[in-house]
Amino acid sequence: MKSPNVAIELEGIGLTFAPESETPTIALNDVHCRIEPGKVTALIGPSGCGKSTLLQIARGFLNPSRGQLRFVEVASGKVTGRPAMATVWQAFNLFPWLTVIENVAFGLEVAGVSKQEREARARKAIGAVDLAGFERHFPRQLSGGMRQRVGIARALVMEPEVLLLDEPFGALDAQTRLVLQEQLSSLVETSGTTAILVTHSIEEAILLADKIVVMSARPGRIVSEIAVGLPRPRTFATTQDPEYAQLFDRIYGLLRDEVMRAMIIESEKADT
Ligand SMILES: Nc1ncnc2c1ncn2[C@@H]1O[C@H](COP(=O)(O)OP(=O)(O)OP(=O)(O)O)[C@@H](O)[C@H]1O
Ligand SMILES: [Mg+2]
Repeated sequence: MKSPNVAIELEGIGLTFAPESETPTIALNDVHCRIEPGKVTALIGPSGCGKSTLLQIARGFLNPSRGQLRFVEVASGKVTGRPAMATVWQAFNLFPWLTVIENVAFGLEVAGVSKQEREARARKAIGAVDLAGFERHFPRQLSGGMRQRVGIARALVMEPEVLLLDEPFGALDAQTRLVLQEQLSSLVETSGTTAILVTHSIEEAILLADKIVVMSARPGRIVSEIAVGLPRPRTFATTQDPEYAQLFDRIYGLLRDEVMRAMIIESEKADT
């Protein structure tokens, strides 16, 4: 795979759901951000602040109401087309009637890839998430952590330039989550993919990201961008590093205020 060379630029992005209605929802307002190629950018912010909406805009599934989304070739500075993207969405979203290998190969089949190549690439992706031997299992025969790994394999198999991850480990227990975080961290490192990771976990953001973008309560804006310089590979041991504790405190401080504001906004919405 060629190394990623395309930055994603968001300039003044805003999105209002149901703008014509009596109760429009301003999900995002004036979001400025640059996603660097080959890096992991984590988006963190209170529930309902527009993180998934922002991913959908980056993916091209939603059009922003305001502002511009641009793909820029870093070497030349020229605006270019959308790079190949794959997504791991918030829910597992596996097809229950397909086996693991059929789930993983599905996107390739849609893309018209030959059966032989589909098989080979799907097996490689399944191996990369440590599920070799489970190719013929159905999702119901797998644990939550294994299912989520199938979801990740399904995205990896497309060899995307950009990987969009929407709370990929949100529904998992703490231990499984830690192991998968370590695995994802090394996968992203070795493949050099550009990744945008939406998460509620400060720990996950610090372990995986090169840059953490903290968002405000709805309407989502960017409150702060924090570079993470901790050495890689990052593992559980990283959480013992004094720099980790400093970063954690700083992000928690920023998030705490926003989460409180989000709770007030949501309770007011419930009252109306
Ligand atoms: N299709 C839609 N129609 C109307 N409102 C929507 C739609 N999708 C999202 N919203 C609203 O837009 C806001 C942002 O939603 P979004 O799902 O992007 O938040 P989020 O940050 O991903 O939240 P969470 O952390 O809970 O996943 C919320 O107030 C939500 O209710
Ligand atoms: Mg979401």
